[in-house]
Amino acid sequence: MENKGRYGEFGGFYVPEVLIPALEQIEHAFYKFKDDPQFVAELDNLYKNYAGRPTPLYFARRFSEHVGFNVYVKREDLLHGGAHKVNNTLGQALLAKYMGKTKIIAETGAGQHGLATAMTGALFGLETKIFMGVVDIERQSVNVHKMKLCGAEVISVQGGTGTLKDAINDALRYWTSHVDDTVYIFGSVCGPHPYPTIVKHFQTPIGVEARAQSLEILGKLPDVITACVGGGSNSIGLFSAFVDDKDVRIVGVEPGGRGLATREHAATLVAGKVGVFHGAKSYLLQDEEGQVYETESISAGLDYPAVGPEHCMLKDSGRVEYVAVGDEDVLDAFELFTKTEGIIPALESTHALAYLVSQKGKLPAETNVIINLSGRGDKDVGIVEKNRPVE
Ligand SMILES: Cc1ncc(COP(=O)(O)O)c(C=O)c1O
Repeated sequence: MENKGRYGEFGGFYVPEVLIPALEQIEHAFYKFKDDPQFVAELDNLYKNYAGRPTPLYFARRFSEHVGFNVYVKREDLLHGGAHKVNNTLGQALLAKYMGKTKIIAETGAGQHGLATAMTGALFGLETKIFMGVVDIERQSVNVHKMKLCGAEVISVQGGTGTLKDAINDALRYWTSHVDDTVYIFGSVCGPHPYPTIVKHFQTPIGVEARAQSLEILGKLPDVITACVGGGSNSIGLFSAFVDDKDVRIVGVEPGGRGLATREHAATLVAGKVGVFHGAKSYLLQDEEGQVYETESISAGLDYPAVGPEHCMLKDSGRVEYVAVGDEDVLDAFELFTKTEGIIPALESTHALAYLVSQKGKLPAETNVIINLSGRGDKDVGIVEKNRPVE
């Protein structure tokens, strides 16, 4: 696998030796089955009848009136489980089944990937363990209950900051001693090769559908597409279908945390420096000595110090612009979008909505924008209530 999984200088697989055969096995299975007619038919059927694909591309009329240009919303929030994560877990869990594995593990931050893994574990009858930081367990408790209802064991991770990076640490550690019967279902386009490639593959329906829907609804491609970037899976799923369309502007939106002063603890591509973390080379939030910063964002799903290697390459090539928006602007956009559209967005996805709000008066009225609404905000209602109590 030496040169595989490289995106320019980024990516690779910097892992303990014991994991290399397990990663190679997954890579082998992926290339063996991804175009296999039976695998493809089974996955397509699950996408359609279990998850709810294709998702609509919806014109958000009142929100558009507010920002002053046309906003089309890719409704990944309508998928089973409430987020795009199920696209990936269905694909990876089906692979695990084809590989003859009986146990799966996963990490989770917002709980959406954990829930999507727990759902597919139940669906395929696989024993499922979900690693989750203590802080995230508290702030995303509804998803913890749902995972347990699906029969998954939720393992509370006490170390570090009790967030996503610590959950990945423990999941990787556990996997090193259980590689024989267990598959690690990674939740985003980061981590060691082959995960960035595999997760991207299973998220590409977002962009493929959005492109076709744009041609159908608008008769042309959009002017701008945008999505939030945590590890980077929902965004790469959308962006990948448009990267070769040079006239389409692409904007990835990262968490800015509590403000400019804390940005280097939140926005990886905007403020990070190149380093190696969780098995891959990427931009990374770290100090001069290479110590990884504690990150902070109002959205658990974006609270992560590294990012997918392909995004790093797209940043360096200038093809994609990466910006950061802060927590307060996210809360404003959450209120605005909910009040104008009657759709409660996930706080992660709301970062991209907040970016659109910031473009009010800057983009011409005829501009057509597609934003990926990666998830619904039911899980975040308590957090918003704490920060902005409703009268
Ligand atoms: C709804 C939602 N959107 C986005 C993300 C961020 O992940 P990614 O950047 O891989 O799409 C998460 C992560 O938990 C999420 O739950």
